Amino acid sequence: VSLQSFNTFGLPAVAQTLVRIRGEADVRRLVDHPRLGRAPKFVLGGGSNVVLTRDVDAVVLKVEVPGLRVVDTRADAVIVEAGAGESWHGLVAWTIGQGLGGLENLALIPGTVGAAPVQNIGAYGLELADRFESLDYVDLVSGRLLTIDRATCRFGYRDSVFKQALADKCVITRVRLRLPRPWRPVLDYIDLQRRMADSGIGDPGPQQIFDWVVEVRRAKLPDPAVIGNAGSFFKNPIVTPEQCRDIIGRDPHLVHYPMDDGNFKLAAGWLIDACGWKGKTVGGAGVYEKQALVLVNRGGARGAEVMTLARAIQESVYGRFGIRLEPEPVVL
Ligand code: EPU
Repeated sequence: VSLQSFNTFGLPAVAQTLVRIRGEADVRRLVDHPRLGRAPKFVLGGGSNVVLTRDVDAVVLKVEVPGLRVVDTRADAVIVEAGAGESWHGLVAWTIGQGLGGLENLALIPGTVGAAPVQNIGAYGLELADRFESLDYVDLVSGRLLTIDRATCRFGYRDSVFKQALADKCVITRVRLRLPRPWRPVLDYIDLQRRMADSGIGDPGPQQIFDWVVEVRRAKLPDPAVIGNAGSFFKNPIVTPEQCRDIIGRDPHLVHYPMDDGNFKLAAGWLIDACGWKGKTVGGAGVYEKQALVLVNRGGARGAEVMTLARAIQESVYGRFGIRLEPEPVVL
């Protein structure tokens, strides 16, 4: 089975076996299967956070669990549940359509609901972890269905237990999100503040913020349906105050944000841009013209070419700033 249309980078790779998962029972059937039950597994959601550099020997699980519903209405929150195979943006748009705010800052993030907790998606001042209630997953060894809370997911910056101890060991089937009542806007991010100032709207509602986020993303991020990509290719690196001061001493324009623990998060896009990479092309892979943190498929790229470009970027950023950039998507 060709995986080219199942990863948003559009990279060529072939899977020996692909199993579609429509519900918990499909996972259990697979675990009990005499031949496939014990084979290594690779869970694929919308394929929006993976770089395929070779064919896949593992059994590929294509998660397609459907369903969107409100499961609980409490005094302080509404709980919605979504099947892991639903599109993330579809879920956000559905909640907004129901008059339920809370996810609008996470509009237009590519990928599925089931993939969202894996890397703890985040944008414009909000992370999935901030709205997370619980999720269901099936253990790929025992076939057991478990429900876990936020603490057990060990969410970090673009990180969770599903990228660590549970990587390829389970299939997330359903995710529940907590939309706090009363709703409060999250408008700290500079891009949203600019939109607000330009529009003259002083008290935007969820739909308005949703529209602004969609506009901001369309203006600087490539649509994977048009240009293959996997969003930000590197994590924004975190450095100590000393390291941050040291770099600012040499590069006063460094874009940096203070964190609660006293460290600083640096804009990887700025570091890459400062090394002159924006708009560059190496083989079939390139650095997006409007956001240097996004690597794109210029047409016909192979995973190896993307990784060659990524390594060249890492080397030049290390050479100039002494900082090691870490890839954000899962590299296979
Ligand atoms: N910048 C440059 N040159 C560039 C790109 C960025 O100078 O080519 C500067 C910008 O001017 C800005 C700063 O870097 O001052 C930050 O850029 P931006 O606001 O675009 O956000 P980011 O830090 O590059 C992060 C997330 C995105 C998320 C946005 C908005 C990561 C790895 N990326 O990007 O998430 O949408 O913030 O919240 O944390 C993703 O994870 O795939 C992703 C797209």
